[in-house]
Parts: sequence; structure tokens; C-alpha cells
Amino acid sequence: MNVTVVDDDMFATTAAAALLERLPSAAPTLGVATGGTPMRVYAELASRSRHGELDLSGATVLALDEYVGLDERDPRSYTAYVRSRVADPLGIPVANVHVPQGNGADPAAVAQAFEQRIAETGGVDVQIAGIGSNGHLAFNEPGSPLDSTTRVVDLSDQTRHDNARFFGGRVDDVPRRAITQGLATIGRARCILLLAAGRAKADALAAALRGPVDASVPASVLQQHSDVTVIADRAAWSRMA
Ligand code: F6R
Repeated sequence: MNVTVVDDDMFATTAAAALLERLPSAAPTLGVATGGTPMRVYAELASRSRHGELDLSGATVLALDEYVGLDERDPRSYTAYVRSRVADPLGIPVANVHVPQGNGADPAAVAQAFEQRIAETGGVDVQIAGIGSNGHLAFNEPGSPLDSTTRVVDLSDQTRHDNARFFGGRVDDVPRRAITQGLATIGRARCILLLAAGRAKADALAAALRGPVDASVPASVLQQHSDVTVIADRAAWSRMA
């Protein structure tokens, strides 16, 4: 496992550099996390693209997860996030952007089809991942089987509380279910770039990287992967130092 601990102001450029170093130049498949942590990394990629320093227009993008019940036009959906922060700024056609459909009539069928879709792309070259304050990876909450695949899950109270900030601070507005890539699915990515920033992630990060590999800390499954790079700021790394 490669680890780089950086000052906050170097987080985005360090993460972007680590990503681009590992991403194949021809038709890469990029797995993207949503949420707060990677936003500035996507902004950095967008800026490089705008300045003609980067061309990812031939990439395929796969999201980790989506809330059940949100329409893709809902600005709080992860579909909207991936399009507005990743695909559009990087000039990636919508046809090459895959996010599970949140408002499908049969979420379980959507999940199964998404697992298939990932396989059809030939697999993820680099997966950008974040970690929840409860140790979740994508929306694999504590207790998720380490061999899980893409499926419908119930979100924990902690996750709904943490994500209320994207729903105007109203926990009740945060959907109760999501479709998420499973831990085994994520583990099939050829390379994983784990991003962690802020003190709220310190305990979870230490448990994931130093504790036993156990379903109670889903991100601990990353210890079993052969190519993981961690970019952490000093606050997130504080329980490791
Ligand atoms: C998002 C995702 C989640 C987040 C995690 C951290 O697609 O899969 O696992 O990466 O909840 O979220 P932030 O970065 O908002 O703290």
C-alpha cells in the first residue's frame, strides 16, 4: 500500500497526480466516488482539462453508488454529481457515464444490471474511493459481507446524518436506501485510490488500514488489494501517526 500524507492545500494536486500516473492513456475506465472529499480533485482535473493539459474525453466513467428514489435530474443524485463535476467538465459523453439508476421500478434489478455493466466495460482501471466516518466503503455499511456484489442496501443512521449536509441539513430528506457496488466488486478494480481528509475520518482510516480485515469496518477489505494508494491529509492521518 502506497501512502502519501499531505497538507490540506496539496491534497487536490497530489491526488490528481496519483490518479493520472496510474490511469492508462488510451480509453481508461475511471471509477469515481462522490461526496465531499473528491470534489476538489475533480475541480483540479477540470481545470487541467480546461487549460488543455489533460484529455480524458475518451474515458468511461463508473460510479460507486446512487440513492434509491432520486431521479437523475435531482441535483442531489449522484448521477447529477458525476455529470456536473466529472463528465461534463472533462468532455466525457453521457453514453460513457454509468451510474446506477436511482428511480428504477426494480432497484434490485438495476443493481444486478450495474454489476454486469461494470464487467462489460472490461473493469475499472483506477477506482477513486472515499471512506465513511463509520468505515464504510461506497455505501457498504458496517456488516456488509466482504464478498458482496452490487446490491440495494439500507443506509446507516450515521451515514444519513453525515450526508444530511447535501440535503439542506435535513436528515429526514436523506434517502434510506442506496444501490452500491459491493466490496468484492470494488476489489476487482485494478488500482484503488483512497482519499481521506479531515479529523472525522481519522478513527475509521486507522481501523481500516491497521485493524483486522472485518465486515465491521468495510474499508478494511482494501488491505487485501494488491494496488492501493492512500492520499490523506494530516488530520485524517492523525490516528495513524
Ligand atoms: C460516495 C461514497 C462514499 C463516500 C464517503 C465519504 O460515492 O461511496 O463512500 O466516499 O461517504 O464521503 P465524503 O467524502 O463526503 O466524506
